[in-house]
Amino acid sequence: MTHSILSDLPVLPLAESFALTEAYNLDTFPEKVNLGQGVYRDEECQPWILPSVRSAEEFLHRQHLNHEYLPIQGAAQFTREAQNLLFSPQLAQNENITSVQTVAGTGANHLAALFCARYLRPKNVFISDPTWDNHHLIWETAGPDIKRKLYPYYDPLTRSLDFDGMITELENSAEENDVVILHACAHNPTGIDPTDMQWEKIAEIVAKKCLFVVFDSAYQGFASGDLDADAWAIRYFYSTLFGDTSLPTSATPAGMIVCQSFSKNFGLYGERIGALHLVTPPSVSPQGAYTHLVRLIRAEISCPSLFGERCVQAILTDLELRSKWEEDVKTMASRIQGVRMSLKLELENIGAQGNWDHIGRQIGMFSYTGLSRTQVHRLREVHHVYMLDNGRMSLSGLNGKNVAYVARAIKEVVDR
Ligand code: LMR
Repeated sequence: MTHSILSDLPVLPLAESFALTEAYNLDTFPEKVNLGQGVYRDEECQPWILPSVRSAEEFLHRQHLNHEYLPIQGAAQFTREAQNLLFSPQLAQNENITSVQTVAGTGANHLAALFCARYLRPKNVFISDPTWDNHHLIWETAGPDIKRKLYPYYDPLTRSLDFDGMITELENSAEENDVVILHACAHNPTGIDPTDMQWEKIAEIVAKKCLFVVFDSAYQGFASGDLDADAWAIRYFYSTLFGDTSLPTSATPAGMIVCQSFSKNFGLYGERIGALHLVTPPSVSPQGAYTHLVRLIRAEISCPSLFGERCVQAILTDLELRSKWEEDVKTMASRIQGVRMSLKLELENIGAQGNWDHIGRQIGMFSYTGLSRTQVHRLREVHHVYMLDNGRMSLSGLNGKNVAYVARAIKEVVDR
């Protein structure tokens, strides 16, 4: 063979959040700060093993469990508990919700895209502008024939939700059966969520235009520290669009998928544990669709992995562990909220040019700082402070010791 087609493939850059972590790890500067990847860190900026997860691990260790295959769809008790957590035990009883275990939130998103591409066959998928970069890659690879369209989400002038832009785009451009991806809470990267009234309006449009919703729920508990409050939008959509069995099928959208990640709220990043929940209209059995999901899983991974689901299941089914875990989630949410406010105050106290109110208004793991790409690069190159090029800062990399340093670094780049 004279020429290999493989030699024509260009070298691609590494995904940004992972590239940043690599660059940060190589940096020898003592005061370096990592505000890149969306991972929780404790007050010492170290990975935090949740005490509830540690207890679950010890409990599991004492059980001397075997290492057999799980069913293709995952562990039944795990998926039931995942449903309960997301939809509430009351709604989760309904027969039009069916669930499978996935390889974390990414696996759920990927399975959703594959499923939609094959069986729903929408013309367009609407993705918020901006969004978690992987949404684009997932839909590009799993649904190459589906056109990816952006809906406005962030208004850089007011540094808040561009609600009118979002609604107008969906009203004008979305067609029946199109997919719209919504972030259930703690929008990544902006940290800006619709209000309850805005969610109601979005649900109205979804119903009116017969859209198929894919909710990405990666941060339940991180937005407010309250697991129920952070699932409000999903439960509202379910109740109004799919929960009423007296509605004729023609009056409901084709369905909804919720992609649920346990990476952040259990600190189980490497275990890759999540779930996909498929919702069908009230009078439509999800069984056929469910078997197609199972078939896709069989082709992709054969069956999901054990350890993460065992930890999550152990915690969610034991009263004591569960309440310990709920405390752990609050601990993470409140530490992040604390450093969020410290950074805002620090920037104001040292007189960094501009208005920093938006940092306080945003919620969850991230702040969308409004810093430009040039400023972000200078922060990295001169001050060894790492964050995404779009100005997204993962707040958990801040602590009482480095917040003043970071604020001074930001002041230096914005005041120049
Ligand atoms: C992030 O957004 O930083 C995390 O979800 C990690 C990732 O996959 O990019």
